[in-house]
Amino acid sequence: MPDTGNSDAFVAFERVQKSYDGETLVVKDLNLSLPKGEFLTMLGPSGSGKTTCLMMLAGFETATHGEIKLDGVSINNIPPHKRGIGMVFQNYALFPHMTVAENLSFPLEVRKMGKSDREAKVKRALDMVEMGAFGGRRPAQLSGGQQQRIALARALVFEPELVLMDEPLGALDKQLREKMQFEITDLAHRLGITVVYVTHDQTEALTMSDRVAVFNDGRIQQLAPPDQLYEQPENSFVAQFIGENNTLEGTVAEIKGDHCVVKLDGGEVIDAKPVNVTKVGERTRVSIRPERVEYNKDRLQEGAHTLKAKVLEFIYMGDIFRTRLEVAGNREFVIKTRNAPDQVRLTPGTEIEIGWLPEDCRALDAN
Ligand SMILES: Nc1ncnc2c1ncn2[C@@H]1O[C@H](COP(=O)(O)OP(=O)(O)OP(=O)(O)O)[C@@H](O)[C@H]1O
Ligand SMILES: [Mg+2]
Repeated sequence: MPDTGNSDAFVAFERVQKSYDGETLVVKDLNLSLPKGEFLTMLGPSGSGKTTCLMMLAGFETATHGEIKLDGVSINNIPPHKRGIGMVFQNYALFPHMTVAENLSFPLEVRKMGKSDREAKVKRALDMVEMGAFGGRRPAQLSGGQQQRIALARALVFEPELVLMDEPLGALDKQLREKMQFEITDLAHRLGITVVYVTHDQTEALTMSDRVAVFNDGRIQQLAPPDQLYEQPENSFVAQFIGENNTLEGTVAEIKGDHCVVKLDGGEVIDAKPVNVTKVGERTRVSIRPERVEYNKDRLQEGAHTLKAKVLEFIYMGDIFRTRLEVAGNREFVIKTRNAPDQVRLTPGTEIEIGWLPEDCRALDAN
């Protein structure tokens, strides 16, 4: 049998495209496969195609081209209720006329489960989200966070192997949101559930996921574990979208292996790691994370590259110092420094020297 390269895939999108109007593709060429038990997040700006992908996987939208497979079998022609997928969608609310317990029992009735089995499963699902005492209430008698927990319980009550969640924590305050983030990942890992999660909150994506697919304009820009996404962005979009990032514009002057020389627009020449630049003369945007820049001379590492900078703003934030600098013409250059007893506090207006390691400095596309 030919090896397709993703034979262990539980969920697979193969060359999937989607157009709603027959003209514009909102999903352009999606190839994505997930092994069983993975927690994968689709992250991206509004309109980038995340919900559309989830709706196609759920079966509420059909792909214009390509195939979606579950456990190796094409599900293109299987209706949503026969796919056995649990869902928590914002527009897929609890039934208001039913009690919490009836809401949870409903997916089991649809699956023709007997009454006593249903009752046992509903109880277990409610206990799982710590809502055991609320079975008799109607959704309107619950807080927003409690309703979302019930929606989660309803998605899990029939023990699906795959659960899809589209911005399930959107309506919650920060504290409850963080608690639920933990509850969801903990539950998914404990039960071995495969999750496809959609959010446009990058912190949520980074903290919850095994891997994150960064979407933009109907395409996956990068698919990687959170640390790799943050530390090794493959293009300018990902570098800008994930976390805080400093950029310096310039032109590639030299490339030798995993090293390149960039002439910045202000005339300074720096070393960088060529990531997606390929030729001399090409425009580039060099990317450096704020916490990789050092100004304390004693802490500058061997081989660090130095540049002159002017302090514009110094903010004491308790655990860190956040300093805004003018560097090579960029007045929005931000560095973050850990607050330590020997760390110098900077005064606006002073000229300093900053440094970083060339490998922390990535030469990316100028798009
Ligand atoms: N039912 C529809 N009919 C026509 N166009 C649609 C429909 N649903 C979505 N679109 C368009 O498809 C594109 C992708 O939309 P989608 O809802 O997948 O984005 P998203 O990444 O989920 O965005 P958001 O973060 O705002 O939820 C958008 O340009 C949107 O206007
Ligand atoms: Mg959406």
